[in-house]
Amino acid sequence: MSTHAFVSPIRLGAVKSLEDFHAVCASLGIELPAEALDARPSPLAEPAAVVINGKRPSNRIVIHPMEGWDGTTTGGVTDEMRRRWRRFGESGAKMICGTEAMAVRPDGRANPNQLIITDENKADLAELVGILKSAHMEHYGSSDDLVIGFQLTHSGRFCRPHDKARWESRVAFRHPILDRKFNVTSDAQVLSDAEVEELVTDYVRAARIAWEVGADFVDLKHCHGYLLHEFLGAHTRPGKYGGSFENRTRVLREIVAGIRADGNPIDLGVRLSLFDMVPHRPDPDRAQPGKLGPGIPEDFSACLPYRYGFGVNQSNPTEIALTETHAFVTLCGELGIKVLNTTAGSPYYTPHIQRPAAFPPSDGYQPSYDPLVDVARQIHAVREVKARAPQGLYVIGSGYTYLQEFLPVVATAVVRQGWADAIGLGRAVLSYPTQLTDAMTGKPAEKKFICRTFSDCTTAPRNGLISGCYPLDKFYTQRPEFAQLKEIKKKLGA
Ligand SMILES: Cc1cc2nc3c(=O)[nH]c(=O)nc-3n(C[C@H](O)[C@H](O)[C@H](O)COP(=O)(O)O)c2cc1C
Repeated sequence: MSTHAFVSPIRLGAVKSLEDFHAVCASLGIELPAEALDARPSPLAEPAAVVINGKRPSNRIVIHPMEGWDGTTTGGVTDEMRRRWRRFGESGAKMICGTEAMAVRPDGRANPNQLIITDENKADLAELVGILKSAHMEHYGSSDDLVIGFQLTHSGRFCRPHDKARWESRVAFRHPILDRKFNVTSDAQVLSDAEVEELVTDYVRAARIAWEVGADFVDLKHCHGYLLHEFLGAHTRPGKYGGSFENRTRVLREIVAGIRADGNPIDLGVRLSLFDMVPHRPDPDRAQPGKLGPGIPEDFSACLPYRYGFGVNQSNPTEIALTETHAFVTLCGELGIKVLNTTAGSPYYTPHIQRPAAFPPSDGYQPSYDPLVDVARQIHAVREVKARAPQGLYVIGSGYTYLQEFLPVVATAVVRQGWADAIGLGRAVLSYPTQLTDAMTGKPAEKKFICRTFSDCTTAPRNGLISGCYPLDKFYTQRPEFAQLKEIKKKLGA
């Protein structure tokens, strides 16, 4: 049994200067670029090096897709969604890279309240686009330089389309560790090749709807363990969608070909988990009363070589491997994909590498080391990918929210040094939509809105509640769900 104490992450809110921040990074053995926001023009204010649907985003700030588990049960729009999209528009970001995950068909939803991109919901989706654009115009005078993408998805292993507590998982292949966790008990849950072909037509139809309701591009989601990401790791799947790299990327190629054969001129993006690791879990031996244990890898000794993931070292799946990632990014360029929104791992089985946090979500684990290490891992992986990416592919960085006060200085340095073309905001947009815009325009930061990564936005939906920033956004603080959430967290030790 390990006797290691819990790690208490360094409180970035208490780090006073850039020099101290660099010292913190050095003490953790990581390198993070950061530069003072001085009189020099901000690289974040540079127009993007990409034109999408005839528009060039006029800054390098991006909003990541952020779903709220708060739609109607027929995949339509609610006031909470309207508010979230309005705030996306108010953020000042000139690219809205996905808005939120939208299921291409009802049984592909991750929860019964996810948006569904169907003909029935077209008017609702068009309304959301209108809200986002007019909020942006009101604040920034024009939306001619604002680019909006819709993220299209099938939730695969994480489908819960009818009941928030019941998995109805459909998978690309049987997984020796994840099957247990997500109730995959039968080969019948593996999608057949014919079902995949049908799914391709769902994506093509969804892309057509996206175009018709005013989206500038679609983000073909290949991340976070959802279905198309899982296909990238389908080494053990027989047939034309598994085994070789060519087969594992066939779904993407068929979707792109289908969209073009449909005569749909919409631009294309991909959100990709650049790397992954074997699933992690809380260490039961180090759990403390009322507290989850720190994260440790699941026992993978019986699963070697680890042929169940993408961007992971097959001999040691606690390590990342980018060889196939580079090949996939090259393929994206060949297919005419213009936007690559990077991310990592999965919030369901490796949340620490995906959304570094000081406080874990209720289905997660305490940090085993300082979460800044995970921030740095993503930033360096993006740097490597960007350095080899095809000319013209617009590469967006992720996982910056944990940086808190230091988000703007790191984002600025990363873009100035060309490690990424643009920086996306995820959790930060829920509490402080203009955090990066304020920094870019020289406005002092509103400290009280800086996200402290309490993970309530994840713990709430994991327990059947709508998502939102409960601690910092009054709209949620005042809701009865906040009291419920506090009770849930106490019980679960999150
Ligand atoms: C509440 C919540 C909802 C999210 N929804 C989506 C989503 O719909 N699609 C997606 O690709 N990522 C989603 N993410 C991941 C974020 O886009 C982002 O990658 C992640 O939060 C890390 O970035 P950050 O450090 O800025 O938060 C979500 C994250 C959270 C916390």
